[in-house]
Amino acid sequence: MISKTTIDQVYESARLEEVIGDFVQLKKSGSNFKGLSPFSDERTPSFMVSPVKQIWKDFSSGKGGNVVAFLMEHEHFTYPEAIKYLAKKYNIEIEETEQSDEQIEQANEKESMYLVSDFAQKHFKEMLWETELGKAIGLSYFKERGFTDEIIKKFELGYCLDQWDGFTNAALDKGYKLEYLEKTGLSIVKEDVNNPNNPRKFDRFKARVMFPIHSLSGRVLGFGGRILTNDKKAAKYLNSPESDIYHKSKVLYGIYYAKQAIAKEDNCYLVEGYTDVIQLYQRGIHNVVSSSGTALTPEQIRLINRLTKNITVLFDGDAAGLRASIRGIDLILEQGMNVKICTFPEGEDPDSFAKNNELENVVLYLQENAKDFIQFKASLLMIEASNDPIKRADTVRDIVNSISKIPDRIKREIYIQECASIMNISENVLFSTLAQIGKKNTVDAQKIEKQESKAFDVVRNEPIEEKVDVQYLLERKIIESLLLYGSKEEQFEDLVLKENDSGDLVLEPESMEIKVYEKIYLDLQEDEIELANENFRNVYYKIMEVLNQNDNFEVSTFIADLDQEMANDISSILMEEERYSLDNWESKDIFPKSKETTIAQLVSETILTLRCFLIKKRMQSLQNETENETNDNREILEEIMNYLQLNKLLNQKLNRVLS
Ligand code: CTP
Ligand code: MN
Repeated sequence: MISKTTIDQVYESARLEEVIGDFVQLKKSGSNFKGLSPFSDERTPSFMVSPVKQIWKDFSSGKGGNVVAFLMEHEHFTYPEAIKYLAKKYNIEIEETEQSDEQIEQANEKESMYLVSDFAQKHFKEMLWETELGKAIGLSYFKERGFTDEIIKKFELGYCLDQWDGFTNAALDKGYKLEYLEKTGLSIVKEDVNNPNNPRKFDRFKARVMFPIHSLSGRVLGFGGRILTNDKKAAKYLNSPESDIYHKSKVLYGIYYAKQAIAKEDNCYLVEGYTDVIQLYQRGIHNVVSSSGTALTPEQIRLINRLTKNITVLFDGDAAGLRASIRGIDLILEQGMNVKICTFPEGEDPDSFAKNNELENVVLYLQENAKDFIQFKASLLMIEASNDPIKRADTVRDIVNSISKIPDRIKREIYIQECASIMNISENVLFSTLAQIGKKNTVDAQKIEKQESKAFDVVRNEPIEEKVDVQYLLERKIIESLLLYGSKEEQFEDLVLKENDSGDLVLEPESMEIKVYEKIYLDLQEDEIELANENFRNVYYKIMEVLNQNDNFEVSTFIADLDQEMANDISSILMEEERYSLDNWESKDIFPKSKETTIAQLVSETILTLRCFLIKKRMQSLQNETENETNDNREILEEIMNYLQLNKLLNQKLNRVLS
């Protein structure tokens, strides 16, 4: 268990905008930050971060919450994992009871797999740097490739000794269980019929140099191991098998080291292999990742898409691989990304090129040779098909198909025009081909859109609707006041009915100092008002409960204890006004109401307005009842009169508050 002190310290130190900034490119927008939602494939930013309130809200998925909620949503961390992550980021020592053997056993399966992987990374690193054989074989191999000590350490490279079970035994000695060594694929376990209680164990990565593969947040998920001999029968690279923590299709090698630079440069270089990433990084190009020899998957593209819209694919010099790889690129276009392609001279790959050229020249080369993907594809295919009419027709369809994947209509049109001239074919033919393909795509897109709209649940009542729901907005305002000022003590001015000297009832001003939440509670109680909106009602009681128990009320800590749905609702409420800045309302000269009025005024006004609203509503329905002839109207009218009185009183109070 992590101690309460540590958790408090983490909340105190963590800056939400910094934490989120590691994953999402944020731009300053008024007093907030905004960016593209990391939870959906949007093109206009609807993700808001409030540094003042320390909460975030994603208007496209409805998700929101505090710093921990973000990490749990985004990194799929458990609560303790999120706290540990933050503690590490802010150099906070975690106060925790020492883990006993029993606790190691109890730690959940995935966590155990992470722990084993982390141990393996440290072990392989130790073998590389601390053993004679490691230094002689592994380290000298890396040096031969031109890697500096610094870069070898940065990427946590390692070496697995040429022993059958050296690593496995080291791990078992340290108390790691064979089960997890097997599940992560680090060890291979073979039943031994002669000795059923003692299966045979092997190191999967025996005699290989090791490349740990990190998640976006820096945890070791798996490994790539390169053989050092020229054994034709053995695979050059061996990778960790798929497991609960390592999903090849969702991981990009190098993303942990590259993420900041990708966001900053607003571009991502995509290469084929481990060594390409490291060599470019060492040369000074940090925004580089690798899909590790496989075609890009949609999940990998999404990972990049969160950080930038621009991707430049770097290909080795051989043409055969090129044609095969080009197919996968439509996937990148589909996600609305801008794709460029850069090839290297025959026989060179990004690794060798970065190794043999100065940074300045590498940068220059990339600048000059990165070509727009569609143009590149059109030129390439046309050269191949130039003398073959049938092949040409296929090529045209192929390219228009790629163009059809681009979500932006204007971009599509520009590409059609450009390709028409590259392929020497009329624009009309291309446009009609596009229209044919387009029809099919639209049907697919509509299907997707329908599914997505379900995610809007929490924000569905937002003022996008033309008819404004006054009651909803007022209730919302009440919750907002409770969240922001609930525990503040304020001076409330009120009008109270009193008997004067001559025995008449008159309204007299009275001033009292109470806490905002008490004022709200008492006033609503007076008319026996319950909030109509179910979400608000639940939140209302929850806040009242917490405010009653604590003197120090912090929104972000309050949210930490709520279930996800309620945390979402609350973030929606708090972020609602921030949303105006998404639409650049300032530039349109529309300002939401200024906050210069005092908190007490604001709170009183809201409650009184709600009370008036409900009374009018009640009177209206009574009025309707009088039209029904079977009713006894006298009673109803009397009730209406009472309400009129009350309404007058409330309006007087309201006027006083407003003046
Ligand atoms: N790869 C793999 N398994 C293989 C071969 C390749 O997983 N048997 C992946 C690795 O991620 C490798 C990438 O594909 O980095 C590119 O392969 P290749 O070009 O053969 O490797 P390089 O990175 O160029 O390796 P090296 O320079 O060490 O030979
Ligand atoms: Mn290579």
